Amino acid sequence: MKILRTEQSIPMDLFLLADPSEAQILGYIHNAIVYIAKIADEIIGGYILVIIGHDRYELKNIAVNVGHQKKGVGTKLLNHMIETVKELKGESVEVGTGTFGYQLSFYQRAGFRVDRIDKDFFLLNYGEAIFEDGIQHKDMLRLLLKL
Ligand code: COA
Repeated sequence: MKILRTEQSIPMDLFLLADPSEAQILGYIHNAIVYIAKIADEIIGGYILVIIGHDRYELKNIAVNVGHQKKGVGTKLLNHMIETVKELKGESVEVGTGTFGYQLSFYQRAGFRVDRIDKDFFLLNYGEAIFEDGIQHKDMLRLLLKL
C-alpha cells in the first residue's frame, strides 16, 4: 500500500463514507491537504487535512473503502496524518466526530482526547438525519491531539 499526496480531483465516493454531505466536503476541500492510499491503481482510503489557525490543523475526513476496512488501513492513515502534521510543524490536530461509535475508540487509541462538545452540530449542518446503530447523531464531539 502506498500513501501519496494528491492535488487532483478527490474520490468523492470514498470521502462520502465519512461525511454524508457532498456540500460539506466541497466546503472544506479548498486549500486542503489530501492523501490517498492505493494498492496498485486502486484507491482504498484517504484523508483530508486543513489548517485552521497558527500551528493548528483539523482532520476533516478519513475513510477506508468498505472492502478494505478493519485490516489496519485506517490506523496507518491516521498515523500518517499525525506525521504529516508534525512535518508541517503543527502543534495540535483536531477532529470532530459523533458522540458514540467505534470511530471514537479509533481516535482515542491514537491519543486524541475529548476537548469540547458542539451541541446540535449534526442537526444544524446537515439536511438529512444521520443514524448509526439506530441512534441519531445530534451533537459533535471535538477531539484534540497535542503534538
Ligand atoms: N465497526 C466496528 N468497529 C470497526 C469498524 C466497524 N465498521 N471499522 C473499524 N472498526 C474498528 C476495528 O475493529 C479496529 O479496532 P480493533 O483494532 O480493536 O479491531 C479499529 O476500528 C481500527 O481499525 P482499522 O482497521 O485500522 O481501521 P479501518 O481501516 O477500518 O479504518 C475508519 C477506520 C473509521 C477510517 C473506517 O472504518 C471508515 O472508513 N469508516 C467509515 C467512515 C468513517 O466513519 N470515518 C470517520 C469519520 S468520524
